[in-house]
Amino acid sequence: MLDVKKRRKEHVWTGMLTCKKCRNNYPIIEGIPDLNLPRAGKGLIKYKYVQVEKYYNHYAAVHDLNYHNPELYYMRKVENHVILLSRPEGTVVDIGCGTGKQTLFLASINCRVYAVDISRKMLLTTRRKAYGLGLQDKIEFVQASADYLPFQEGVFDRAYSIFGAYNHALNYREGFNRLGKILKGNGEAVISVFNQYRLTWWLYSIFTFKTRWIKKALKSKQTYLRHRVRRRKYKAWTHLYTYDEIKQLLRDAGFRSIYVGSILIFFKPEFKYTPQTELKGVKYLLGKIEDKLRWVPPFNRLGTYLIVWAKK
Ligand SMILES: C[S@@+](CC[C@H](N)C(=O)[O-])C[C@H]1O[C@@H](n2cnc3c(N)ncnc32)[C@H](O)[C@@H]1O
Repeated sequence: MLDVKKRRKEHVWTGMLTCKKCRNNYPIIEGIPDLNLPRAGKGLIKYKYVQVEKYYNHYAAVHDLNYHNPELYYMRKVENHVILLSRPEGTVVDIGCGTGKQTLFLASINCRVYAVDISRKMLLTTRRKAYGLGLQDKIEFVQASADYLPFQEGVFDRAYSIFGAYNHALNYREGFNRLGKILKGNGEAVISVFNQYRLTWWLYSIFTFKTRWIKKALKSKQTYLRHRVRRRKYKAWTHLYTYDEIKQLLRDAGFRSIYVGSILIFFKPEFKYTPQTELKGVKYLLGKIEDKLRWVPPFNRLGTYLIVWAKK
């Protein structure tokens, strides 16, 4: 049931969605429905989702700047390559759309995109960019969590979730099952997540004599991403995946062909702005070597990020 308070042209700007079954209400704010279901929950679980939402609301302002450097540009090239392998077409969902890197690209090649993010600030940034590029009519925006995707079964041709949204989904097992269901019978998904077993991190810890970091990282799959804005600190609950784990989760979710590769195997990512975007010298060579080894064991298990291409 849709209760419209304010319209702008064809768009509902303010209103309320009411579930016919459970009678729960979900507001539409600034034209974007807020279907972030875990936030309506209770206790520590709700607190962790709210933390993630706040973390990324504050990160939205620096997201594009912090990722402007050669390491991250290299990572983007790999992600784009795998996205193109999946032949994006038809109706697609971009889970954790952030500031729109994949959403805008997919809309520009004529896909109908559902851009989903837990953070409203991220969605608003992507929408602003979409208007700037004249792509707004090809994109729907939904505020929701990756593990509670509010869509009917069998509606999407492709699903993309690049650069970590599933690391912050507490109910990730159910989330992947749901992802399998909302895809059509021949659907495909490309997902990238933060890896538990990161070769560069181990090497860095050894060379800086911080071996307790390795022990901690090997023992626990749960950690927190941290980010500071002036004096305020934000942290986001994070689940680290392994090669075997993500493969099994997707198999359980109904995917049959699953390829898992690694990104940033031999050098660490930087999260700060540098004017250059191309790898140079040794890093350039390491990038070339990595291109050959990405999908080859044991290197496909050791990157900072794991990238998965899965077909139903
Ligand atoms: C590092 S950014 C990546 C954004 C974009 N895909 C890219 O590659 O630039 C991760 C995004 O995932 C979103 N996110 C984090 N946890 C999420 C969750 N549980 N459900 C949906 N989105 C989430 C964040 O708000 C953020 O926009």
